[in-house]
Amino acid sequence: MNFRSCHCGALRAKDIGQRATLAGWVGSRRDHGGVIFVDLRDREGMTQVVFRPEEHATVAETAHSLRDEDVIQVSGTIARRLAGTENAKLSTGEVELVADEVKILNKAEVLPFPLDEQVANEDLRLTHRYLDLRRPAMAANLRLRHRVIKTVRDVLDADGFWEIETPILSKSTPEGARDFLVPSRLNPGSFYALPQAPQQYKQLLMAAGVEKYFQIARCFRDEDLRADRQPEFTQADIEMSFVGAEDIFALIEKMFVAVFREAWGVEIKTPFLRMTHREAMDRFGSDKPDTRWAQEIVDVGDVFAGTEFKVFRGALDGGGVVRALNAKGLAKITTGQIEELTEMAKQFGAKGLAFIKCENGEWKSPIVKFFTDAEKTALKERLGIEEGDLVLFGADKWETVCEVLGRVRLRAVELLGITHDPRRLDFLWVVDFPLLAWSEEEQKWNAVHHPFTRPKADDVQLLESGQYAEVRAEAYDIVLNGVEIGGGSIRIHEADLQSQMFSVLGVNEEQQTSMFGHLLKAFKFGAPPHGGIALGLDRLVMLLAHAESIRDVIAFPKNNRGVELMTGSPANVDFKQLRELYIASTKKS
Ligand code: AMO
Ligand code: AMP
Repeated sequence: MNFRSCHCGALRAKDIGQRATLAGWVGSRRDHGGVIFVDLRDREGMTQVVFRPEEHATVAETAHSLRDEDVIQVSGTIARRLAGTENAKLSTGEVELVADEVKILNKAEVLPFPLDEQVANEDLRLTHRYLDLRRPAMAANLRLRHRVIKTVRDVLDADGFWEIETPILSKSTPEGARDFLVPSRLNPGSFYALPQAPQQYKQLLMAAGVEKYFQIARCFRDEDLRADRQPEFTQADIEMSFVGAEDIFALIEKMFVAVFREAWGVEIKTPFLRMTHREAMDRFGSDKPDTRWAQEIVDVGDVFAGTEFKVFRGALDGGGVVRALNAKGLAKITTGQIEELTEMAKQFGAKGLAFIKCENGEWKSPIVKFFTDAEKTALKERLGIEEGDLVLFGADKWETVCEVLGRVRLRAVELLGITHDPRRLDFLWVVDFPLLAWSEEEQKWNAVHHPFTRPKADDVQLLESGQYAEVRAEAYDIVLNGVEIGGGSIRIHEADLQSQMFSVLGVNEEQQTSMFGHLLKAFKFGAPPHGGIALGLDRLVMLLAHAESIRDVIAFPKNNRGVELMTGSPANVDFKQLRELYIASTKKS
């Protein structure tokens, strides 16, 4: 049986006079003194269906009983809408289907929320996600995601990549987050780890001679959730042999050209801008700078070289920096908002947040009384200070000032209510990340990217001489409008260097063998030079869809407590199931 002759988005003026059969959901029903109008919706669109009691009495009677979201099949003749009742917003807006047959395929109960309005309660939407996904905006996100993944596959396939799956039940890889563990029934007391990324497997595929690998890879990380973080998410994961960073950049730029052509029908410009990590931190206080707002962080240490103001003096004498951000136009900020910014600064390690408000030709500030005229003149010139501006200062160690003013900068954009052109695309490669970062908490060096990342050839000496903070990595991130949408590196492929790297990270020889023996061995049997990258697909689609959260571009996401509300996972399990796994729960239920 043919359920329908076309989709609900297909009918046009040229079809007038023809017969059609549609199937779909009742979007709304309007009763106009006997004549009934139904907006019939399916995945592809909406068609207005008219039921006329004077022509088809029983059909109209059935129509009368229809409720929102009933599923029906309807046949009739395509007619031109009455003059003045056309709907230009609808692709089918010139026509309507005059029904002479209708069949109710399934009735719907009253819905927990209306599908034609914005629903603020996201938990309610997630609990009934199958309804939420019927909304055209959500369906559009699913479609877009499909198109993006298809394009990624096509570009990589055309370039000779092989799509290869790697295990989900795997071994812990140190990507920096907590692992999700899965107990092994056949090996009591042993656990698989869900992959945080297929990092080691893809490198082992290079050792296997695959040369060009990719995977639309599901990754699992047990970390605190945010708008752009999920405990399981999807990467376009890529690895290549016999390449340098330039080859990876060229491939990814080519891929983005194809993706944006497909998704938005635009031609983006390549090559993308590049910026060293150091410069990104200095100018924007972030390793994923949002360059859409022009205001940058400016060093004013030299302006205050001779200052007596104790906050600045202390920072400079202690080897720190004094920097400022001119939040142009933000002098209108309220006292409450200044307090909020100060609180935020303190949360990120600052002792305070000095500021100057330029209002009514005056500099209003608790600190200008400590400035000399020469300092004021120099400051005004350096920062281009004008009426209506708010200047914010950071005086501390370099890292703290970058972090604090970087956060303040982002918040200033929100407070100013700046909305960027939705078509604006600021792509940026951030390069030359540091290889290692000192953790105060753990009192040890950690890998900034991951332990398999290669130090820059020029900096290997520094690694050997123990100047760990100075070593730069052959690592890169790709940033779009202030969102990190991907990251990767050229890898270590020599067993000696990898082993040295592990040692710096505090992994002793015995642990190296037990945890990474497979990789070190593979490197001894002829591993080619290789490198790669992983794109955060959810984040990319989020930006393409102008969605506010990656949850809006994932069919069945978890909420910010890590719960998938529709099925109710995670859930308690049977005592019997636990016993089979040799697991005892210490949590009282
Ligand atoms: P990285 O950890 O930088 O690199 O991850 C790559 C990209 O994945 C996205 N991403 C996330 N998206 C949603 N939710 C999360 N919790 C989440 N975490 C990361 C980001 C990020 O840029 N194996 C390396 C890649 C490599 O070296 O080739 C890796 O996973 O967009
Ligand atoms: P205080 O003398 O400590 O009250 O600080 C004077 C002003 O400088 C206040 O507005 C503080 O918020 C600000 N301030 C204090 N410490 C810092 C700092 N490290 N960086 C920037 N501003 C600061």
